[in-house]
Amino acid sequence: MKSNEFINILAALPEQIEKAQDICSRVKVDLPEKINAVYIAGMGGSGVAGLLAKSILSENLKIPVELIRDYAAPFAMTKNSLLVAVSYSGNTEETLSVVAQAEKRRVPMVFISSGGKLAELAEAKKIDIFEIPKGYQPRAALGFLLIPLLYIFEKLKMAPGLKEDLAEAVIELKKLCGEIGPGVSPHQNEAHKLAAKICKTFPLIYSSAALYPAAYRFKCQLNENAKLLAHAGEMTESNHNEIEGLCALKRGAHNHSLLYLRSERDSERTKKQMEITKSLVGAQLGGVREIFPRGKSLLCQMLSLVYFLDMVSAYVAEVNGTDPAEIGTILKLKKELSR
Ligand code: PA5
Repeated sequence: MKSNEFINILAALPEQIEKAQDICSRVKVDLPEKINAVYIAGMGGSGVAGLLAKSILSENLKIPVELIRDYAAPFAMTKNSLLVAVSYSGNTEETLSVVAQAEKRRVPMVFISSGGKLAELAEAKKIDIFEIPKGYQPRAALGFLLIPLLYIFEKLKMAPGLKEDLAEAVIELKKLCGEIGPGVSPHQNEAHKLAAKICKTFPLIYSSAALYPAAYRFKCQLNENAKLLAHAGEMTESNHNEIEGLCALKRGAHNHSLLYLRSERDSERTKKQMEITKSLVGAQLGGVREIFPRGKSLLCQMLSLVYFLDMVSAYVAEVNGTDPAEIGTILKLKKELSR
């Protein structure tokens, strides 16, 4: 895939969300009436959909929702739970391992995938599956991976107002595309300007716990698209440990950049901690760059941050002359694993 094509796919997230909504409206899922917990298994670009969904819906989750990003299924996952396995390729071995354990324990399951072994298993065992379009890279298929997950929670009556919030998000993302999309010149494009500032640094990205999935997604997108190491931290936990390491950095003797994802939704105490941290460590790190979301709902705020920062990661790749579509090392690792 050419790098321009990849950037265009990232930029088309609002349209992808609309397509995903259309897919969801056509898929029939039969969910158990009574469950005591939801487990979401998925790795990398697929797993992040679970992280986002759990946080976006946090205020309405009536039962525990746990993420599984490993081979082992938690002991507490039983036939009274629901497992949602998310794997774009359908072939990720950690996710397949959890699914195999769930099968043995007779855990009800739903899959979100474009094919692979998950789709084969769904066919063979009559397991409900949201079959999403093929031909994307997982990290550029967030709309297809996330929307079915939110839709499952809506069916479980844990996502009130989902349609309205998605409508708000699509409008805001389309507006953002007109401001920071690949068609907007770098001089007028805030995502491009940020990319130029951080492209040679080790970004340290902080947000409130609620917005942490957006910070983490940005870290992962910088890793994969721009081949840049980055760190994502959660306020206020980081103020109980990392702040010492940040404070010890000598001004001008390192190449870190400090970014805060902020929202008026953050609690007053979190805002206060962010202000204090800024005054304590900002100077050593050449100041703090603050990024604000769009819209009112948590879903819209989260997705607008993800969208803006996805574009930043692609522009960092562009500025650094790296191909954002290429993830040769991950592919090499997967090939070795499959031997
Ligand atoms: O971005 C990527 O390609 C990876 O992070 C993958 O998402 C990860 O390796 C898991 O693969 P899949 O999404 O196909 O389950």
